[in-house]
Amino acid sequence: MRGFSHLPVFVGVAWLFSGVQCDVSCKGTDGHPGEAGAPGRNGWPGVKGDKGDAGTLTDGPGGSDVLLRIKGEKGSRGEQGDLGPKGYQGDLGSPGLPGKPGLPGPDGKRVVRGQQSDQDGDQSAFSVIRNITTYPSFSQTVKGWVEVVNIPGHFKTSTGEFICNISGVYYFNFHSVAKVSVCLAIVSNTLENKLVFCDYSKGGEQVLSGGVVLQLTAGDKVWLESHRDLQGANVNADTQSKQIIFNGFLIFTAQ
Ligand SMILES: *[C@@H]1O[C@H](CO)[C@@H](O)[C@H](O)[C@H]1NC(C)=O
Ligand SMILES: *[C@@H]1O[C@H](CO)[C@@H](O)[C@H](O)[C@H]1NC(C)=O
Repeated sequence: MRGFSHLPVFVGVAWLFSGVQCDVSCKGTDGHPGEAGAPGRNGWPGVKGDKGDAGTLTDGPGGSDVLLRIKGEKGSRGEQGDLGPKGYQGDLGSPGLPGKPGLPGPDGKRVVRGQQSDQDGDQSAFSVIRNITTYPSFSQTVKGWVEVVNIPGHFKTSTGEFICNISGVYYFNFHSVAKVSVCLAIVSNTLENKLVFCDYSKGGEQVLSGGVVLQLTAGDKVWLESHRDLQGANVNADTQSKQIIFNGFLIFTAQ
């Protein structure tokens, strides 16, 4: 580069020497060297060099790929960030499992069945008459009854027994009219003793009555029995008219 910029100077000097005509005897003194020229301009920037070789690990287990694989130590935990904004409301979940059964409730109040108006089963009443002249046999159930009322039929005329079908409290009574001494007993499997009622006739017509309130459960029985007490031996043979009426009815149901 530098030689190129000096070229016009050498050309000028060559023209100067070639244009002078001189003898062999011609002698002159040497000329003074010319002054140094001004420095040339800066050259163009060089082209970019080639990429250098990859560096190597000087004090480690392997090459650069190892460097990439070696993990650094875990940093310390950062401070907790601020609470984020509240999210959107989620979808409704599926229904849960059924809960356990609750504790049993308190005992119910007793309902008196008799207060229910149209229940046929709550009715029980009878009135039966014995209108035969033969004296009722001692120690036997009085029979020979004719029904006046028997609703719904708990009195059995065939056996002379009332058979309770609705547990409850009942009233039973009887009246007899006779001209001989009569003893009648109200008897029930629920009674320890027979309830004996006696009347001793002195010849005229006598009325005998007896009654009792009993608490019965279904299946209990009530009947009348002829009872021997102080009657004379002749009463069995008496054929005078005698009437017995036997009544019973449910006052109210009870278990
Ligand atoms: C009882 O029988 C007599 C005759 O045997 C009769 O006159 C009377 O009316 C009868 N009484 C009843 C309540 O059935
Ligand atoms: C009560 O009456 C019903 C219906 O007639 C009958 O089935 C049942 O055996 C009776 N119970 C008693 C104890 O008589």
